[in-house]
Amino acid sequence: KSSLPDVREQTLIAVKPDGVHRRLVGQIMQRFEQRGFKLVGLKMLQVSEDLLAQHYCHLRTKPFYPSLQDYMTSGPVVAMVWEGHNVIQTSRIMVGHTNPAEAQAGTVRGDFSIHVSRNVVHASDSREGAEREIQLWFQGKELLNWESCDQTFTC
Ligand code: TYD
Repeated sequence: KSSLPDVREQTLIAVKPDGVHRRLVGQIMQRFEQRGFKLVGLKMLQVSEDLLAQHYCHLRTKPFYPSLQDYMTSGPVVAMVWEGHNVIQTSRIMVGHTNPAEAQAGTVRGDFSIHVSRNVVHASDSREGAEREIQLWFQGKELLNWESCDQTFTC
């Protein structure tokens, strides 16, 4: 059994409609796999206005919300749950700043996007947020608890 320090967490990552449209799903998933995280949930869905309103409840009164809703419901989204050590914070760093103009090169948004209204990917921003969003997007039975056969992996 591994004795590495392990802050085991899960987070919701979603490739937004622009990312699916631009065929970026594979490249985005590859980044999480190669970092060492474990995929425990995956589905493609058309997001409803109701799901989006619950997901972005903190933004519903913002002036940009109507265009955010149009964008997020304009085509399919690929939703994923990734698990591993410190995955919430690490995936926020991998995804980059909300505004791609301020996102570092090497991050998903810094490499693939130029405008905040088309920033390719979502990542939960806290433990509470991740727990809430995973429950909102996935049923418990859709999350698979598989074990890696190579015990040198930390997750
Ligand atoms: P937010 O939760 O603030 O950022 P993040 O996605 O990094 O957690 O905002 C949610 C989404 O709303 C953001 O990814 C893109 C969109 N958005 C705009 O379209 N315009 C804006 O000015 C902001 C702040 C966000």
